[in-house]
Amino acid sequence: MLVGGQGTRLRPLTMSAPKPMLPVAGVPVTAHMLARARDAGIARVVLATSYRAEVFEEYFGDGSAHGLELEYVTETEPLGTGGAIRNVVERLRGGPDDPVVIFNGDILSGLDIPALVRRHSEADAAVTLHLTEVVDPRAFGVVPTDADGRVTAFLEKTPDPPTNLINAGCYVFRRSVIDMIPAGRPVSVERETFPGLLAAGTPVMGYPDSTYWLDLGTPAAFVQGSRDLVTGRMASSALPGPVGDCLVLPGAAVAADAKIGGGATVGAGARVGAGAAVDGAVLFDGAVVEAGATVRDSVIGRGAVIGAGVLLDGVVIGDGAIIERDNELRAGARVFPGAVLAAGAVRFSSDRT
Ligand code: GDD
Ligand code: MG
Repeated sequence: MLVGGQGTRLRPLTMSAPKPMLPVAGVPVTAHMLARARDAGIARVVLATSYRAEVFEEYFGDGSAHGLELEYVTETEPLGTGGAIRNVVERLRGGPDDPVVIFNGDILSGLDIPALVRRHSEADAAVTLHLTEVVDPRAFGVVPTDADGRVTAFLEKTPDPPTNLINAGCYVFRRSVIDMIPAGRPVSVERETFPGLLAAGTPVMGYPDSTYWLDLGTPAAFVQGSRDLVTGRMASSALPGPVGDCLVLPGAAVAADAKIGGGATVGAGARVGAGAAVDGAVLFDGAVVEAGATVRDSVIGRGAVIGAGVLLDGVVIGDGAIIERDNELRAGARVFPGAVLAAGAVRFSSDRT
């Protein structure tokens, strides 16, 4: 599982925690992903870490509490997706022809993992890619296939995509193919390994499916994914409570007349005051929403304080920031950790930090 990226598009949230450790629906993204792997019969996972590597082991330990055997391999310099895979090769067990499942660490998906592995074995492919269809493929790896499902090209983040089928970020590699990735330098599977395999005529298969799929790389997607887990649109055995209209974690205090809904999550020790509304938003642990404030489709960092009467819609508030009363922030605005917005300072803000 590749969990070493910087999570740039989720800044400032990823200044204090790596993207795969940010809580969606109460637990880190990685916890949901590991639960899916375990539920599919995977017993052992190697986490390829780089950025803020230590927090993964602190949280997951040897994996026994999660029903898995976990190992960690940390890159001293980020090696990219392919370099990260190559870097863990010594920790992989099994023979040269055995399948190795690789996960991008920021994906929520209903993929049938055993079915992906079966497709790979039946086709005797070098690599098999989970594919999904998206409306706008430009931000992804675009993967055209022929009538038999064989991959014909791999176009990473191309401005003029020939198909809506994209790389969904889960692969099966034949173990010997990993041995062939060059060691000790950054390698991108998307820009180097896959195009190289295709140019050499190596069989690369696609496995398209239409189950739930979401890359949690942007604030909007992050909020969406959290809501979908809370409301049960996306199933996860790691969800720390029953499916419902909201998830309120232990130790949170919510005023009786506050409205929490739309799949919102209220973190441990967070506080929501009288008459406040939290709609589809994610409040990290210890966040405070004061009386009469409205927080919609936003992420509120740990211990951040949202003052009385504030309106937030589609924004990201960094850890410990203070938004004093009567501010309004919307449409992609981001507030840095620890920043203080004086009362009534901002009425509307779009895409500003
Ligand atoms: N260990 C390690 N080292 N992990 C890394 C590194 C690295 O240097 N760089 C990235 N990763 C991890 C990230 O943490 C993430 O889990 C995964 O690799 C993919 O990186 P992203 O930064 O999320 O890539 P993306 O979303 O722009 O594109 C990738 O995912 C798309 C599907 O969501 C590509 O694989 C696309 O082709 C694909 O369509
Ligand atoms: Mg991503």
